[in-house]
Amino acid sequence: MAAVTYELIHVCKQTGARLGRVHTPHGSFDTPVFMPVGTQATVKGMSPDELKEIGAGIILSNTYHLYLRPGHELIKKAGGLHRFMNWDRPILTDSGGFQVFSLAELRDITEEGVTFRSHIDGSKHFLSPEKSIEIQNALGSDIIMAFDECAPYPCDYEYAKKSMEMTTRWAERCLKAHKNPEKQALFGIVQGSVYEDLRRESAKQLTAMDFPGYAIGGLSVGEPGEVMMEMLEKTVPYLPENKPRYLMGVGSPDYLIDGSIRGIDMFDCVLPTRIGRNGTVFTSKGRIIIRDAKYAEDFSPIDEECDCYVCRNFTRAYIRHLFKAGEMLGLRLATWHNLRFLIRLMENIREAIRNDCLGDFRNEFFRKFGYDTK
Ligand code: GUN
Ligand code: ZN
Repeated sequence: MAAVTYELIHVCKQTGARLGRVHTPHGSFDTPVFMPVGTQATVKGMSPDELKEIGAGIILSNTYHLYLRPGHELIKKAGGLHRFMNWDRPILTDSGGFQVFSLAELRDITEEGVTFRSHIDGSKHFLSPEKSIEIQNALGSDIIMAFDECAPYPCDYEYAKKSMEMTTRWAERCLKAHKNPEKQALFGIVQGSVYEDLRRESAKQLTAMDFPGYAIGGLSVGEPGEVMMEMLEKTVPYLPENKPRYLMGVGSPDYLIDGSIRGIDMFDCVLPTRIGRNGTVFTSKGRIIIRDAKYAEDFSPIDEECDCYVCRNFTRAYIRHLFKAGEMLGLRLATWHNLRFLIRLMENIREAIRNDCLGDFRNEFFRKFGYDTK
């Protein structure tokens, strides 16, 4: 029996978006889903109980960071990542491919793998498909990711082709190295930069390898939004209907809606937690910067329409004060609200799919939020 299975519940008649449920050894979650990011075995500022309170169904963590600190052997000794961090719902770990390319220094990429220096202490390390899977097997996450190369943007066709073909060979090696497919599901990652034929080729090659789920990587790396949407339209039709599809590193409200419309089931992004710690919060009428002087005497909640603990109990004026005073509760409250905002957006997307009206929901959300509705 596969560790992870996808149940398709309904397809929106207006848009083609999918309502589904993913089953894992640590329980099920409804899709389309937004996964809060817990890079260092913690979603910054939020306890596991608080994450449950806001409705998080699955969280993401990172192989690269946990390998460097505290080390996967230590987490294995603790009884695995779920026990170590006291989170008993599903966890997905990214493979380290992307983080090595975005964080580490002095990378040397060969067919064998990637040599790099730690961003923490400069020490030298080597990650390969086999090593990444060994680490993720030790962590015990429910969904583990293939070790890939996320090509930079912009990227010329020849580089993108070679990189995508190597990512396919690495995916084969990941499958071979994976020790317990009945406990952890290994997802393949489609690459191919902004080239339609490479994306199609990548999706076909990976689909032939029969992964229990597929991610689309190498997007949201600086290309225009229309290009990202076009790549989704060119890729998703080549992925199997009975497996989950995960768009990596995407989490702005507009892309969560437009990605769902293109058949994506899973998303993750540091955006809500990162901008929250900077004092930027989502509202149904767009983002606001809570530190702004204009909120000094604003005794209304961050968002009148939000049902979260923060909006039920605190005012914009108070949260602004916390930020101005450098109080850590400010970071926590902004993070809390932003995560709940996106998780509620996903609940509303699922409801709209169920009612065959995600297109109408999109137009209304975009209009109120202040996005261009084209
Ligand atoms: N996170 C965002 N984009 C990517 C990607 O292309 N590959 C991996 N492994 N993680 C990502
Ligand atoms: Zn709120």
